[in-house]
Amino acid sequence: MLWTTIMRIKELLILGKNSTLIFSLFSSHHIADEIAKTCGFEKIDVIQQSFPDGETYIQYNRRINGNKIIIVDTLNTPNEKILPLIFAAETAKDLGAKEIGLIAPYLCYMRQDKRFQSGEAITSKIFAKFISQTFDWMLTIDPHLHRYKSLDEIYTIPTKVISAATTLSTWIKCHVPLPLLIGPDQESEQWISQIAQNINCPFRVLDKKRLSSHEVQISIPNIENFMDHSPVLVDDIVSTGQTMIKTIEHLKSLGTKPPTCVIVHPIFADITMDTLLQAGAARVVSSNTIPHASNVPDLDISKVLIEGMSFDMSLQMD
Ligand code: R5P
Repeated sequence: MLWTTIMRIKELLILGKNSTLIFSLFSSHHIADEIAKTCGFEKIDVIQQSFPDGETYIQYNRRINGNKIIIVDTLNTPNEKILPLIFAAETAKDLGAKEIGLIAPYLCYMRQDKRFQSGEAITSKIFAKFISQTFDWMLTIDPHLHRYKSLDEIYTIPTKVISAATTLSTWIKCHVPLPLLIGPDQESEQWISQIAQNINCPFRVLDKKRLSSHEVQISIPNIENFMDHSPVLVDDIVSTGQTMIKTIEHLKSLGTKPPTCVIVHPIFADITMDTLLQAGAARVVSSNTIPHASNVPDLDISKVLIEGMSFDMSLQMD
């Protein structure tokens, strides 16, 4: 008891100064560590446990009052993460935190952006409402903006989108001689054209038709003049892998060199990296927005996240 009291007083004396506290509840510790180290924030541990019935227990074991809080958690497999995140954020608010920001390297629930069939939930909107009620700002990397032009259409808090395009450009330039970039669909054109411009190489965009969540049809327009090039498939998300697999098979039938697959958010819902290699990919690499076997050190997005944080998100910087 005495020891606990002494420790508590020591903690209050040492950590009495208000500062920015950062933590991850799930699998984004590596990114939270980098941000803490570079920005001089204090990385804290938050206790998260489960009661026997599966309900979540959250406890902060340091003073929160007056501090700014940043939670870093990538939101793949979101359903198991979101309640603990909301409990942690709401508890910080309750304990007097000055501001609570969310860094979600991968932002989930962006693909159901319209009612495709009657009676469907537009989950992107509902999810955005949840997050906007709980957090003061949000930062993310290349969210899947398709029918929404900007996150502001559904999020009511300040949001900032960081692009992994420069990181991807550098990787492709260093690792693939004579690349031909291939984008998955029309929305990717803006993004892929930027990478192509950065590294001065040609690009093509697929004509893609999604028949169901596990079925896509694709065709690749006019690549006969680039048969000496190395195809590089660049996609924001690999989920079922069908887009990549169909494209790899199509390229194989055209007789191109085996393609390299470069992915921002490696969800790999139903497949492994080997599925793409077995389909004929020469190499599969991804950024570390989501920890996965395909992550490579040169595609570490911590740096680009930190740069993005520091130039105009004055709201969370001390
Ligand atoms: C779609 O619009 C995205 O850019 C990706 O191509 C898509 O999410 C990939 O999904 P899957 O791996 O399930 O084909």
